[in-house]
Amino acid sequence: MRKVLVIGAGGQIGTELVIRLREKLGSENAIAADLKADCPASLKGGPYIQMDVLDREAVRKVIIDQKITEVYLLAALLSATAEKHPDFAWKLNMDGLFTILDLAKEGYLKKIFWPSSIAVFGPTTPKENTPQRTVMEPSTVYGISKQAGERWCEYYYDKFGVDVRSIRYPGLISYTTLPGGGTTDYAVDIFYQAKLGNKFSCFLKEDTRLPMMFMEDAIRATLNLMEAPIDKIGIRSSYNLSGCDFTPEEIANEIKEHVSDFEIAYDPDYRQSIAESWPSSIDDSQAREDWGWKEEYSLKDLVNVMLENVNVDLLTQD
Ligand code: NAD
Ligand code: SER
Repeated sequence: MRKVLVIGAGGQIGTELVIRLREKLGSENAIAADLKADCPASLKGGPYIQMDVLDREAVRKVIIDQKITEVYLLAALLSATAEKHPDFAWKLNMDGLFTILDLAKEGYLKKIFWPSSIAVFGPTTPKENTPQRTVMEPSTVYGISKQAGERWCEYYYDKFGVDVRSIRYPGLISYTTLPGGGTTDYAVDIFYQAKLGNKFSCFLKEDTRLPMMFMEDAIRATLNLMEAPIDKIGIRSSYNLSGCDFTPEEIANEIKEHVSDFEIAYDPDYRQSIAESWPSSIDDSQAREDWGWKEEYSLKDLVNVMLENVNVDLLTQD
C-alpha cells in the first residue's frame, strides 16, 4: 500500500505531480504539503497540509503519524532566486533533504524522490551531449546544493540502503502553475507575453542553448523512475534526462509560426552567466537503458500545447 507525501506541492512541478499521483493511488493516498497557508485550487480534491520543511519535528510527526511510505521532496530555492539568497538557499535545499533521508534510514519510509538539476554541471563540464558521469564544478549556489544533495543521496543508499531516486531535470515548461525563480523561466514567460500580444524582453541572449522539457514528460519520467524495479536503478546520485534543447531565438521563431507578429528583444542580465555555465544538451542514455526513458515532446509539440493552454489570468493571481 503506497501513501505518498509531496513536500513543495504548491509549485510548478508539485501541482501537476500531485494530480497524477492522486489519479494513480486515490486522492486520500497522495497528501500535498507546502509552506503556503492556502491549498492551491488545483489540489483541493485531496488532503493538504501547511508544512515548513525546515521544521524537522513537524515533518517527522506527519510522516510517522500518517504512515507515509514515499516522499517527493520538491521544496527548494531555484537557481536565480538562490543567487540572491545564498545562505538561505543552502539551508532550505539541504536541511529538508537530511530530514527525509534520516526518516528513511530509520525505516519510516520505503522510497524517496528528490530532484536534482542540470545545474550540477558547471563551466568546465563538456557542454554538448553532457555525459552522466563527467567533470562537475557548479558555479551557482543552487548547483552546489544540488551536487551536494546528489552525493548525500548516493551515500545514504550505499551506507544505509535508503531507496532514494533522482532526476537531473532540465528547464521545465508548463502552463498550470508559473515557474518559481529559475534561469529557464524565460521559456515559460515567453508564451504569456505572446498571448498578451506584448513584445517579449528575454533575459538571456538569443543563442543561449539550454536543455528543456515539457512538464508532462517530466512527470511521466518521475512516475516511471519511482515505479521501476529496484534492480533497474543503476544510478543513486541522479539520472541525466533529456527532452529537447533550444535557444531563445529558436523558441521565438517557433512561436512566430502561430503568432506572426510576435516580437522578441534581448536584454541579458545576471542569469546569462548562470545559463552559460550549464550544458546545452544532455546524454541520457543511462536512463533510457535502465528504466526505458523516452521523451514525447519536441520543441514544436510543446509550443503547440503551450499556446493552446496558457491562461494569462494566472499572471494576476497570487
Ligand atoms: P517551485 O519554486 O515552483 O515550487 C517550490 C514549492 O516549494 C513552492 O510551492 C514553495 O511554496 C514550496 N516551499 C518553499 N519553501 C518551503 C518550505 N520551507 N517548506 C515547504 N514548502 C516550501 O519549484 P519547482 O519548479 O516545482 O521545483 C521543484 C523541485 O524541482 C526543486 O527542487 C527544483 O530545484 C527542482 N527542479 C525544478 C526545475 C524546473 O525547471 N522547474 C528544474 C530542475 C530541478
Ligand atoms: N529550471 C531550473 C532553474 O532554472 C533548473 O534547475 O533553476
